[in-house]
Amino acid sequence: MIEASEIKELIQRIEKLSIEEAMGLLTDLFPNEVIFSTSFGQEDQVITQKIAKNKLPIEIFTLDTGRLFYETYDLWSKTIVKYGVSIKPFYPNTAAVEDLVSSNGINGFYQSVENRKSCCYVRKVEPLKRALQGNKVWITGLRAEQSPNRQTMQLLEWDEGNQILKYNPLLHWTMEDMLKYIKEESIPYNTLHDKGFVSIGCAPCTRAIMPGEDARAGRWWWEASQKECGLHEQGAIANNS
Ligand code: ADX
Ligand code: SF4
Repeated sequence: MIEASEIKELIQRIEKLSIEEAMGLLTDLFPNEVIFSTSFGQEDQVITQKIAKNKLPIEIFTLDTGRLFYETYDLWSKTIVKYGVSIKPFYPNTAAVEDLVSSNGINGFYQSVENRKSCCYVRKVEPLKRALQGNKVWITGLRAEQSPNRQTMQLLEWDEGNQILKYNPLLHWTMEDMLKYIKEESIPYNTLHDKGFVSIGCAPCTRAIMPGEDARAGRWWWEASQKECGLHEQGAIANNS
């Protein structure tokens, strides 16, 4: 556990730095213990480009749920070639997926929120816990604009559930900031974005949205839930006290 006062001090230092410099500072403070999770979303592609361009010693990993879009796998492949980075995949536990599919069916997540959460747990949350093990800082592509839940997040916060310091460098970037950067730097992105997809997760649980719809409306569209899968728990302590 890192003290709230230490986090507050770190936030003050980081706020004055560019994202590249902030990630560099974190790797100096926590060598070999800074890790970045990518789902190959636009935000993640920005961060991967910054890590690669600055040759930062940050391990990049992805959670391959086994239910991703073909286009996401294609982008994964393009990204490692373009940036010469290695992206470590984490897979769901075989026995847990076998049990899940045997009891709930292959598309059981459509039947209830409980089933959906079980699937997200087996395919994402448990592998995430394994990926974070032994690390001190977890970098994500979360942006405040994405949902009301995310507006209360901090640039740097203590994730109590995962016992790790979480750094959300793009938290205050707008969609326009991100699209401009992607264009300027010719960053490869998921071709589904050109077909009306905004937030992209697993194929059976993501659809395109209509202009004016909420950015996360295409995720678990059949549910009236909070549209979160459990990777980003609201239990994280906001360290601005
Ligand atoms: S989710 O909680 O709804 O699935 P979202 O798709 O908005 O999350 O992505 C937010 C951040 O969570 C990404 O920038 C990335 O850091 C992390 N993330 C989400 N899905 C994955 C995944 N499959 N693999 C690795 N990281 C992920
Ligand atoms: Fe399962 Fe859908 Fe969650 Fe993917 S998003 S882990 S397919 S419930």
